[in-house]
Amino acid sequence: MKVRITETVTRDANQSLIATRMPISDFLPALELLDKVGYYSLECWGGATFDSCLRYLDEDPWERLRTIRKHVKNTKLQMLLRGQNVLGYKHYPDDIVRAFVRKSVENGIDIIRVFDALNDLRNIETAVDEGLKRGAEVSGALCYTVSPIHDIPAFVKLGRELEKMGCQTITIKDMAGIMSPEETFKLVSGLKDAGIKAPIVVHTHCTTGMGAMTCLKAAEAGASVIDCALSAFANGTSQPATETMSYVLRGMGYDTGIDERLAFEANRLFRPIRDKALETGLLNPAIMAVRPDALTFQVPGGMLSNLMSQLKAQNALDRLPEVLDEVPRVREDLGYPPLVTPSSQMVGVQAAANVLAGERYKSISKEIVAYLRGEYGRAPGKISTELLKKALGDEQPIECRFADTLKPGLEEAKREIGALARSEEDVLSYAIFPVVAEKFFQTREEKEKHTVKYTISKME
Ligand code: CO
Repeated sequence: MKVRITETVTRDANQSLIATRMPISDFLPALELLDKVGYYSLECWGGATFDSCLRYLDEDPWERLRTIRKHVKNTKLQMLLRGQNVLGYKHYPDDIVRAFVRKSVENGIDIIRVFDALNDLRNIETAVDEGLKRGAEVSGALCYTVSPIHDIPAFVKLGRELEKMGCQTITIKDMAGIMSPEETFKLVSGLKDAGIKAPIVVHTHCTTGMGAMTCLKAAEAGASVIDCALSAFANGTSQPATETMSYVLRGMGYDTGIDERLAFEANRLFRPIRDKALETGLLNPAIMAVRPDALTFQVPGGMLSNLMSQLKAQNALDRLPEVLDEVPRVREDLGYPPLVTPSSQMVGVQAAANVLAGERYKSISKEIVAYLRGEYGRAPGKISTELLKKALGDEQPIECRFADTLKPGLEEAKREIGALARSEEDVLSYAIFPVVAEKFFQTREEKEKHTVKYTISKME
């Protein structure tokens, strides 16, 4: 029996525990070792890493990917893509989605895991199609959530549709860590019983303390891959520990392909990074605690750390419990969207606004208004008519795929950014994050001017 492991330390673990602030200089020394551990894949790009590189780390995300590829020659490199949202927080036109997927593959990505926050599959079709055309392994992800309108048969139906679209693997994405071991067993078995041939991947978080048990039951039900993180960045709002899961699974007769000795060695390189993050406060020890209450508020790892820093910035960290109580209410009003980027941020920001203003929907964020207009796709359930009325008045939400209403955007982005962009990759960075990317390019120019001056003066 085989169960392989995807290592998330450079992407999801980094994102869930330290708000994606791990610079490549921190983990570069570990890459060649990671390549030898025997992972199914190394999740190392996409998700929030792209934004974080440009916004906080003064790093070119494309260069990061190429550097990783240079050092990780054998293990498949994996990214997380938000479908029509690409790596941003709104829908982009198809030409941008296609170019982004093509460039991701050209720069070294092997596996593209694609999801849509609302499980509206119209929003992943373009990305899946382009990924397949470019020869990537495409994993279609269904976002697991619990609500009065979500059940196992509905998720199995989604899984069949993903396979029909051509996805080579099906990922069950439990971003909030709320999928119980029992439900996991039922869902994985359900997908298999429905005749799905594509290997099943299970992605969970340890937020509620169930992560390792969930992975174990996933393996028992016949999942092919589980996501884990090296122990220095495991547990809490991150994934179960790679070394531990591999040890447990091996003891039960599973072949994980992991060289545990090398995994231990690789982990040793991540421990000082974790310790530094604890020292600087980047890693909040509170995030490592087991939070069974997340079973009600369903807040994914990244969202919890974001909410905490957002409230901290407004000097209102003590209001966190109230905000977490408000989250499920906002979610219900919105027709039970799964909470994952970007819906998690949207719901979180609105819940915080509702609590801090002392009045619900006193102000409605422009993202929520866009959501209500149908610009993020079809809500899984019924949206509160009262909220619709308050936000849109007599305006009718759209029914079609929102991207069909968008003009192609690549040429315009290219024109706008002009000479500051030095490659098609730069144009894409700008198309997704105009303000942040432009600032990054300007800093790059200035740094180079400075280096040139410095070199000339040294020569003189
Ligand atoms: Co995750």
